Amino acid sequence: MRTFFFLICLIFTSTFFLSNSEKAALTPYKFPNPVAFPAMPQSSDNPVTIEGVALGRFLFYDPILSKDKTISCASCHKQEFAFSDSPNKFSKGINGQVQKRNTPPLFNLAWYQAYFWDGRAVTIEDQIFFPVRDHLEMNLDWPTATRRIQKSKFYRDQFDLVFGEVAIDSILISKAIAQFERTLISHNSKFDRVLRREDKLTTEEFRGFEIMNDQSMADCLHCHSTDANALATSGKFGNNGIDAVEDPLNYRDFGLGGYTGKLSDYGKFKIPSLRNIVLTAPYMHDGRFKTIRDVIDFYSTGLNHSANLDAKMTHIKTRGVQLTEYDKNCLEAFLLTLTDSVFISNSEHSNPFTIQSSKRTE
Ligand code: HEC
Ligand code: HEC
Repeated sequence: MRTFFFLICLIFTSTFFLSNSEKAALTPYKFPNPVAFPAMPQSSDNPVTIEGVALGRFLFYDPILSKDKTISCASCHKQEFAFSDSPNKFSKGINGQVQKRNTPPLFNLAWYQAYFWDGRAVTIEDQIFFPVRDHLEMNLDWPTATRRIQKSKFYRDQFDLVFGEVAIDSILISKAIAQFERTLISHNSKFDRVLRREDKLTTEEFRGFEIMNDQSMADCLHCHSTDANALATSGKFGNNGIDAVEDPLNYRDFGLGGYTGKLSDYGKFKIPSLRNIVLTAPYMHDGRFKTIRDVIDFYSTGLNHSANLDAKMTHIKTRGVQLTEYDKNCLEAFLLTLTDSVFISNSEHSNPFTIQSSKRTE
């Protein structure tokens, strides 16, 4: 009798383990390997799976994570504008609250070492904790967010599938959204096609490329690399002389310094990628420039001396790189080749609720 009981137990436990390991058989997400991109940094504790990305995509587009259920990540990060909030200078969050900085686009995030204009989040997973509880953005405490998600059968099933049958918490929510965000890779601009030898730059575009990457010309390459490294940003922080400030404490926005507390970091901001730049106006952390031409004019003749001005702003003595009208046109023409219309129309990144409107999350 005892052996019989033991056998029954054995069968039960093995089927239990089998069904669990069947559940764990998730499909790893296959990332592209774009030409002239450095190797993509992976997260060791958040492996990206097809199922995890699908869940994260729902959460990204779901207003369930805001207090009054009106704002989702996608309210401010819109696919058609490369996940920026163009043409708004400042996005509006919950109750119409105006943000303090311009909303950056979201793509190629895995390559960054820090997030936000001031670098206050170190990982993509970490970043997600900020907007949800930020009073101006989504204003929801995590216990309520978690409770709402747990109440939804739709999400319970998805979380079970992706993470196994463990309690849903803020860490898992952020991991799922981060998986979706990691798949937002922009690598299909005209410039990428040129790098893949599928297309050619026009004479003007090529001149623009040379101007950006020649130290004796516009010298943009140290901060916005487009040559050996096609991410169009070094991923570092810098001060590019948008304001004349002699005492670091007088910067209107302390930027990186507000986070690190170091005087030498005051007025430094995350160097944005120039990819998809035509889609993401207005420009700079405070959205002060309306057009690409305004930015080019600034780098050409509008630089200001500033306490923490980057040493790489080598043209400060002449207040800029002093481009001719023709060269400004060429530079702009090259910047336009960084527009990735495949990325902004990729249905894998679009709102899943409009496709599967029958699937309710609550
Ligand atoms: C109300 C508008 C708004 C909402 C909602 C919002 N964001 Fe943002 N997001 C911003 C703004 C503004 C910034 C820049 C803030 C700063 O740098 O201080 C930002 C920055 C980011 C960054 C940093 C990008 C970079 O290059 O450093 C990421 C990633 C991001 N948001 C993802 C999300 C996710 C995920 C959600 C949903 C959980 C979300 N955002 C919700 C406005 C918003
Ligand atoms: C010393 C590093 C550095 C150099 C050199 C540099 N930039 Fe920048 N660039 C930055 C930083 C930092 C910002 C963001 C500044 C801010 O928001 O206050 C920026 C912002 C921009 C933006 C706005 C992007 C956005 O999303 O808002 C454009 C466009 C741009 N730079 C183009 C150029 C061009 C073209 C050149 C060469 C003429 C150049 N940059 C040279 C550091 C640099």
